[in-house]
Amino acid sequence: MTFKALKPQVSTILKDKNLKVDDRLQGVCDILKENIPHYNWVGFYFKNGDKAELLLRKFAGKPTDHTVIPFGRGICGQVALSNQNFMVPDVTAQDNYIACSIDVKSEIVVPLFVNGENVGQIDIDSNTPDPFTEEDERFLEWVNEQVAGMLSPQPPKGESSL
Ligand code: SME
Repeated sequence: MTFKALKPQVSTILKDKNLKVDDRLQGVCDILKENIPHYNWVGFYFKNGDKAELLLRKFAGKPTDHTVIPFGRGICGQVALSNQNFMVPDVTAQDNYIACSIDVKSEIVVPLFVNGENVGQIDIDSNTPDPFTEEDERFLEWVNEQVAGMLSPQPPKGESSL
């Protein structure tokens, strides 16, 4: 399914107030993993309060041992510090990489900003070598913006939050 066709599904689940926030995040992981063939593991990590570490919050795919990742470690930990997307076409070429499964060939991590602060990230593992393009980056940035909107709803235009 194309990214364009998936956007309404993602929006709908994130806006569903009948679901808990964690269930909506789980839904996004499931939708992405089930509909995008090169997404074999999809997860959201979030900063653990004031600690310089990430906690795995929701994921779709095989369970991983890496539910806590210190800032600076692995692709995820580097993105927590750099605030930049990190696209890895070949994970074997990375020195600072945390392997979750021998099947994984490539990875993309995109930071999630709430009110300008890097609070977490979406992490995609792929069993296909070099599958990611700028289209994935733009789509995942869009997904994270929608998640940020759910986590920190903005007042309607013209109304002050004060
Ligand atoms: N490979 C990641 C660790 C998380 S797993 O992909 C689920 C990393 O290097 O940070």
